[in-house]
Amino acid sequence: MQDSEIPLLESCNSSLSTDLIDALAILNLPVCSEPPAEGYYLSCEHDGLVLNTDEGEKIQPVLSKPAAFTGKQPLLRALAPARGGTVIDATAGLAGDTLKLAMIADKVIAIERNPVVFALLVSALHTATDSTLSLVKKIETHFGDAIDQIRKLPAADVIFMDPMFPPKRKRSALPPKAVRILRNIVGEDSDDEELLRVARQYALRRVVVKRPLHASPLADDHVALHEGKVVRYEVYLPTGKQA
Ligand SMILES: C[S@@+](CC[C@H](N)C(=O)[O-])C[C@H]1O[C@@H](n2cnc3c(N)ncnc32)[C@H](O)[C@@H]1O
Repeated sequence: MQDSEIPLLESCNSSLSTDLIDALAILNLPVCSEPPAEGYYLSCEHDGLVLNTDEGEKIQPVLSKPAAFTGKQPLLRALAPARGGTVIDATAGLAGDTLKLAMIADKVIAIERNPVVFALLVSALHTATDSTLSLVKKIETHFGDAIDQIRKLPAADVIFMDPMFPPKRKRSALPPKAVRILRNIVGEDSDDEELLRVARQYALRRVVVKRPLHASPLADDHVALHEGKVVRYEVYLPTGKQA
């Protein structure tokens, strides 16, 4: 499925806040006056933008406050140098991990390159409720390819990446339905090795890659592997810009 096939219902212009409409304007999403007879489309509900599928499914980032971390959790161990610092979430998607990163770091820069996914992400952050507001305030969103954005942004302590991986991934931070639909619209992230290379050039302390346990590590020279039940967090050291 191509993004250009996923239009935004025109009526959204009157129901979304002006600053959200302004934020979405850079995406140049196609507009339709009626829901299309087939294919996905974006509509507006009381709590922001929703992606509608042919089967009547509705997808929206679920911004609920993550459970508190305990010292042994693999993500917390992998992200240790980010405490009180800055993290770039280079593959923000529907923000399943972004809020967790905001529980650890002082600031999270969330990058997403797919316009439809970015629109859903920005809308969800705009409509955050009290329980997540303190975390959402730490998150800054950037539309674009992280491979380019990382070079332009101020250096972050940790760069986190969770590229789309081919199926067999049984569970993730997102419900399976959302993972399946996300995969339909973004496809596979086949440039993950290049993203890791650039991230290692620009990260100050480390790069953390989230991968399914059944996948081999993205590169051989990881310095730590923190395994959970379903996913693994691979830790890579910075190489500096000469690499
Ligand atoms: C597996 S999803 C991320 C899921 C996310 N961690 C979550 O928990 O919701 C991967 C996302 O990263 C985005 N992505 C992959 N490579 C990217 C890149 N180089 N720059 C920006 N976004 C990227 C894809 O468009 C997709 O939305």
